[in-house]
Amino acid sequence: MTESLHSQPGDPECETRESKISAEAISEAEPPAMAQARIHSIFSRIANRYDLFNALSSLGIHKRWLRSVVKAANANQQTVMLDIAAGTGDVSFAVAEDSHPAHIVLSDFNAEMLAVAQRRLDEGEGKGTQIELEVVDGQQLPFADASFDLVTCAYGVRNMPNRMAALKEAHRVLKPGGRYVVLEFSTPPNPIFKTLYHIYLKTVIPFIGGILTKDRQSFVYLNDSIRAFPVQDEFADMLRAAGFSSVTYRNLTGGIVALHIAIN
Ligand SMILES: C[S@@+](CC[C@H](N)C(=O)[O-])C[C@H]1O[C@@H](n2cnc3c(N)ncnc32)[C@H](O)[C@@H]1O
Repeated sequence: MTESLHSQPGDPECETRESKISAEAISEAEPPAMAQARIHSIFSRIANRYDLFNALSSLGIHKRWLRSVVKAANANQQTVMLDIAAGTGDVSFAVAEDSHPAHIVLSDFNAEMLAVAQRRLDEGEGKGTQIELEVVDGQQLPFADASFDLVTCAYGVRNMPNRMAALKEAHRVLKPGGRYVVLEFSTPPNPIFKTLYHIYLKTVIPFIGGILTKDRQSFVYLNDSIRAFPVQDEFADMLRAAGFSSVTYRNLTGGIVALHIAIN
């Protein structure tokens, strides 16, 4: 990774930011370190089956959602991009193949998920784009202010105990006018569809997940975390509170997921 994108460890601004993040974090209901460790171990356990689970549980619709992310990213050959909670690399590879950005940092806090992304990279995905993998906590980014034109985060923010810190960090590392694209499971506005969807989440998701990974409990967590995530307008307000000047969102598949676009 280019040194200039990283913030310097002794940088006083960096230290102030870290202590502010810790102070916010301890006010959360569950101690953030415990929540982080639990989430980390879930993704370590499911890393090798994650892509298959995604395809089966969404009945393939996730590919359509991915295309919407690529479109919203609006990247070009000059774009310097950071993919946060990139997991096995779906968003990075899709943007690379569509838009050939200048540089992508494909990051995640879980090395096992990144190992799958590395395998995909080795097999030729994203060919022609400079893609670099890095272990990074999305709530505390090791990059200098205003380093990126585009930051993406698909199904990641929901898993971060200190969500506001994650949004502020995305805002900080974006250049003025830069774009933060967040895809997240959300709340269907239609009450009947919402009820059916929640039944699906509660029954089918742990069932498929349990068969694939022998770890049904991780998928019960997935269900709970989706239901606990702020609704679309609330999340848009959080993005504004984090400092973004223009925030819009679009519901996909009746609001099962929402695509938020926030401009720095
Ligand atoms: C549901 S997966 C999404 C992966 C990928 N973005 C995709 O579209 O398939 C969530 C990812 O978030 C990562 N994650 C969770 N908490 C994180 C954090 N605090 N910092 C960075 N990554 C995190 C997990 O390791 C996991 O890879």
